Amino acid sequence: MANLLQDKTVLILGVANKWSIAHAIAAAARREGARVLLTYQGERQRLTVEELGAELGADKVLACDVSKDEELAGLAQALQADGVTLDAVVHSIAFANREDLSRPFVETSRSGYALAQDVSAYSLVAVARTCRPFMTRGGSITTLSYLGAVRVVQNYNVMGVAKAALEAAVKYLANDLGPAGIRVNAISAGPIKTASARGVKDFGKILEGMLAMAPLRRNTDPAEVADTAVFLASDLGRGVTGNVLYVDGGFQVMALAAP
Ligand SMILES: NC(=O)c1ccc[n+]([C@@H]2O[C@H](COP(=O)([O-])OP(=O)(O)OC[C@H]3O[C@@H](n4cnc5c(N)ncnc54)[C@H](O)[C@@H]3O)[C@@H](O)[C@H]2O)c1
Repeated sequence: MANLLQDKTVLILGVANKWSIAHAIAAAARREGARVLLTYQGERQRLTVEELGAELGADKVLACDVSKDEELAGLAQALQADGVTLDAVVHSIAFANREDLSRPFVETSRSGYALAQDVSAYSLVAVARTCRPFMTRGGSITTLSYLGAVRVVQNYNVMGVAKAALEAAVKYLANDLGPAGIRVNAISAGPIKTASARGVKDFGKILEGMLAMAPLRRNTDPAEVADTAVFLASDLGRGVTGNVLYVDGGFQVMALAAP
């Protein structure tokens, strides 16, 4: 594999540290020859993401807290000022209160529910609307989902409901943006030990279950999620939109553990 993203510019939202799935996607995009732009959430993250961006060979590191309309507008201004044309956007962002990922789902507060939906699902709509004017050649928007959108995963709770909304948003956005040649898809990744994942109570048990049950009998490597993101961003993915692609070692097809 080489140069699948030559001459393409990819905006990647969601690098927090080197374990972030977005970091693996940025590395794979660079490997394939893309010009990469990164964003960070708030001043607290700026230095770290700038350092990671320099290591990765990212062109720019821009501010964007997706829960703030003014920061989305600021992102658009920065892209405009640079005369950027985007070919692909990767939305690798989610957030929920820690207590909502440990107590029974029925205890979820109105504000916790709204927060998870706003940051983890609505933000894809807002990001798509912000980026659309810069995708004049068409292109690809990819988000990250999880099996908890369609099945009950213990303690995933409010985030599962947000991912269900996210996957529905993928379909509506694919319909809206398809005529402009913009494809919208989700990658449903298997569980990976990241900062966000550690917020889910007993996440270690989810990893153990995956290892025992997945047809490939191993956990998901962020690099294989990243390679699927490259496929979707590249011309190889040109016929794929409105889809959820599982990169989970096949776990989603299983009902009972293999003997
Ligand atoms: N790790 C897993 O097991 C797994 C599995 C399937 C899907 N996912 C999804 O992958 C995506 C990336 O998560 P990750 O596991 O790499 O964890 P991560 O903690 O490294 O990444 C989450 C990112 O979301 C960002 N974010 C949160 N609130 C934000 C806001 N208001 N504005 C801008 N950015 C904000 C954080 O800064 C961080 O960069 C998430 O959507 C997550 O749900 C993760």
